[in-house]
Amino acid sequence: MPRVALVTYDPRPEPSKDSDLPGLRAALAAAGAEADVVCWDDADADWASYDLAVIRSTWDYSWRAAEFTAWAERCGKLTRLANPASVVRWNTDKRYIGELAAAGVPTVPTRYLAPGDADAPAGLPGDHEYVVKPTSGAGARYAARYTPDQHEAAVRHLARMHAEGLTAMVQPYMRSIDTGGERALQFFGGRLLHASRKRAVLAPGTAFDADKVAHPGLEPWTPTPAELAVAERALAAVPDAPELLYARVDVVDGDDGEPRVMELELVEPNLFLFLHPESVSAVVAAILAAAATA
Ligand SMILES: Nc1ncnc2c1ncn2[C@@H]1O[C@H](COP(=O)(O)OP(=O)(O)OP(=O)(O)O)[C@@H](O)[C@H]1O
Ligand SMILES: [Mg+2]
Repeated sequence: MPRVALVTYDPRPEPSKDSDLPGLRAALAAAGAEADVVCWDDADADWASYDLAVIRSTWDYSWRAAEFTAWAERCGKLTRLANPASVVRWNTDKRYIGELAAAGVPTVPTRYLAPGDADAPAGLPGDHEYVVKPTSGAGARYAARYTPDQHEAAVRHLARMHAEGLTAMVQPYMRSIDTGGERALQFFGGRLLHASRKRAVLAPGTAFDADKVAHPGLEPWTPTPAELAVAERALAAVPDAPELLYARVDVVDGDDGEPRVMELELVEPNLFLFLHPESVSAVVAAILAAAATA
């Protein structure tokens, strides 16, 4: 019997926000695997006893990124880890967007403003609406949009991030998201699994430190050929691309109507299996195949 760890976070005292886990675990068991749900920071976890550890929902890691990547390195030495530690390290720092752009992948234009740069406020656009957000984050934490006349508020946002040691990303506000939304293309086992669309998250005037709804208006989506092509180009540009078990590519359209990569999620993508129950069998098959190649 293959032994698989589905790696999650410890939600206590709240219930887990991962709605994929119970069904996935049951489907793996029905397919003849022994699947355990294990918290990444569980000191008693016996990683070496598994054929495969699949990172699924380690959703508390963005506040503990160094601790998390150190865990991935350790775990990856004890068992086969998917995605591998090298991919986790690369993907937990959103400077990868700049690397994708340098590799010729269409991305949302991004400029990075690091702490310690006294001229950083001069990097804020004066002629179009823009977004400021951190290079490590999830759930739109510390993300906000600004018009040029909100320069002072954006400078305070930047100063607060820099005081916490966070590097800021500055991007044009992609206006098409207000009409066409953001599309998430999920891949598993090297193939498109399914896609979803969500509506814009950043309402005008929302404070950067306000809580946001992470997936407004989520619905199934049939990707266009252009979206698929961009997603595949992005995945091909990932260092260690052949090692990927799963990936989510988020795209939004530019003013020219062409899709651009907003985010590549290679660590802990929510699969939204409740929206796509038909995908469970493909996920199980890919996990079993990966466990068998260990
Ligand atoms: N340049 C942009 N233009 C328009 N909207 C943006 C832009 N950048 C971010 N957003 C909005 O903010 C949301 C969160 O941004 P992003 O996905 O980059 O960060 P995140 O913190 O990793 O979020 P999550 O993990 O929830 O996807 C996006 O889903 C999108 O709605
Ligand atoms: Mg996102």
